[in-house]
Amino acid sequence: MQKYKNILRLVILLVLFTAACSPESRYKVLSFIFDGVPEPDFSDNIAANDSVLTSDSTNILNIAENNKTKIFFHQPYLDKDCNSCHSNNNMGQKIKTQPELCYTCHENFEDEYAVIHGPVAGGYCTDCHDPHKSKFPELMLREGKDICLKCHDPQIVESDIHSLVEINDCVSCHNPHGEENPFLLKKGSCYVCHDNFSEKYKYLHGPVAGGFCNSCHDTHSSESEYKLLLTGQKLCYKCHTEKAVLGNENHEGIDDVNCTECHNPHGGDDKYLFN
Ligand code: HEC
Ligand code: HEC
Ligand code: HEC
Ligand code: HEC
Ligand code: HEC
Ligand code: HEC
Ligand code: HEC
Ligand code: HEC
Ligand code: HEC
Repeated sequence: MQKYKNILRLVILLVLFTAACSPESRYKVLSFIFDGVPEPDFSDNIAANDSVLTSDSTNILNIAENNKTKIFFHQPYLDKDCNSCHSNNNMGQKIKTQPELCYTCHENFEDEYAVIHGPVAGGYCTDCHDPHKSKFPELMLREGKDICLKCHDPQIVESDIHSLVEINDCVSCHNPHGEENPFLLKKGSCYVCHDNFSEKYKYLHGPVAGGFCNSCHDTHSSESEYKLLLTGQKLCYKCHTEKAVLGNENHEGIDDVNCTECHNPHGGDDKYLFN
């Protein structure tokens, strides 16, 4: 248990570290030090704050000197390219509905991932992101796990798997938009809790090296032993052909023998992954 916690702390530190420095560089100089002005209000005050941007740049700097809050701007908003999203004569009106509005400039997540997160598929980008600016990196409406707990029951943190780690940042394991894996699990997230096979073995089995744990394992809800999708030789014949395997003289008489009697499914110290 202590091991899980230490590993997770490290992951969280890394996440915090990247969160702390990448937005600045990506946004170039998009963060301003505001002063005296109330913290940005996302629900009703966007238009009022816009005067800051639509007036001249001295105005921005004057205000910036008096406040300690960092503001992250969306590039087209900062560029006053309002019409890329709004119709010319009505700022409240959008030229397209979401997610198409966002996909005019951003990559379509549907093209990228097999599994799409509910609100992303539904086009509710602005349930998580502010389209103009935010005091949090990545234009988030709320910070860290709070954005997830806006819709997901906070009880999730107490649930079987999650109770095992000090959950701080959900996105260290889950991709907020989509993934190739069920439960939006990022590649490598299994190693937050399980032994990292690449540290343990000299040679890694193909799918393990690729991070495709789910090509053999179901998630933790599975009742089968070791949470396996298939049992015995069937699991291996999902990818290896029976003809090739049985054609190898070393495999004579293995009909009733489990492949894992000789081979380790994850890795080994030689290329044939012997136990
Ligand atoms: C990237 C697209 C995008 C750009 C660029 C953009 N907006 Fe918006 N704007 C939106 C969206 C989306 C909403 C609706 C917000 C929501 O549904 O939560 C919105 C809402 C608004 C509203 C209504 C107020 C509100 O809270 O709903 C005003 C006014 C507004 N924008 C003004 C502007 C101005 C002025 C600019 C240029 C400086 C601008 N917008 C640039 C996407 C954009
Ligand atoms: C007119 C083009 C345009 C549209 C439309 C647009 N964006 Fe952006 N967006 C950008 C640019 C440019 C950047 C900054 C460059 C970058 O990192 O990709 C950016 C950055 C972002 C970022 C931060 C990314 C980062 O790397 O820090 C988020 C989040 C984001 N946009 C969300 C949205 C959402 C949500 C919508 C739809 C409401 C939207 N965008 C619509 C152009 C656009
Ligand atoms: C459930 C909340 C949520 C929804 C809905 C959501 N995002 Fe995000 N988005 C995030 C989080 C969290 C991050 C920061 C990711 C990280 O730190 O790893 C992010 C990051 C981003 C980024 C910058 C990093 C990247 O992955 O490119 C862009 C651009 C972006 N989102 C666009 C969108 C668009 C477009 C939509 C709608 C189609 C959308 N998001 C819907 C939570 C969300
Ligand atoms: C706007 C509401 C909303 C927000 C915010 C939100 N989610 Fe979700 N999430 C959903 C919906 C809706 C589903 C689909 C529900 C389902 O299929 O059972 C879902 C599904 C999921 C699933 C997959 C569950 C499954 O059974 O496959 C995971 C994992 C998840 N969300 C994690 C997150 C994380 C992490 C965040 C924060 C970055 C987040 N969610 C923020 C609404 C939200
Ligand atoms: C938050 C910590 C955590 C994460 C992340 C995690 N697991 Fe687990 N896993 C556990 C715990 C605790 C158990 C033992 C309890 C159980 O059987 O459900 C377990 C059990 C298992 C087992 C069964 C082991 C046995 O001896 O029967 C397999 C297989 C497994 N996990 C695979 C995975 C895979 C694949 C991933 C990534 C998709 C993953 N785990 C991510 C905590 C985690
Ligand atoms: C090629 C199929 C396959 C892949 C891919 C795979 N596993 Fe396994 N895994 C197995 C089999 C089979 C067992 C049962 C072990 C046995 O029979 O000795 C197992 C057992 C386990 C166990 C419990 C026993 C142990 O060795 O600790 C864990 C935990 C586990 N796997 C995690 C993972 C993780 C994490 C990944 C991805 C990095 C992964 N597995 C990828 C087939 C696979
Ligand atoms: C250490 C990695 C890790 C972190 C951090 C994490 N999760 Fe998960 N989560 C998992 C794994 C693994 C599963 C798959 C559960 C299973 O195998 O049954 C999962 C499943 C889920 C599911 C779908 C299944 C369910 O129980 O409803 C949701 C929703 C979810 N997580 C939300 C969250 C939220 C919200 C946070 C942040 C508070 C979070 N997760 C943080 C590893 C993680
Ligand atoms: C998801 C697909 C997949 C599954 C399931 C799978 N394998 Fe593999 N296996 C591969 C890939 C890909 C390689 C790498 C092929 C290569 O490098 O020639 C590989 C390589 C191997 C090798 C090394 C071959 C060599 O020449 O170096 C052995 C041994 C092996 N697998 C045994 C097994 C066993 C035993 C099982 C069942 C527990 C299994 N595989 C299940 C995809 C899979
Ligand atoms: C009795 C032990 C044993 C069992 C059981 C066994 N293997 Fe092997 N396997 C070997 C040996 C020995 C080699 C050959 C190493 C060499 O060529 O030096 C090998 C090689 C392989 C290779 C790489 C060479 C090739 O033919 O492509 C694969 C893949 C493989 N085995 C898959 C499997 C699968 C799948 C099963 C289960 C159906 C299985 N093995 C069961 C001992 C075994």
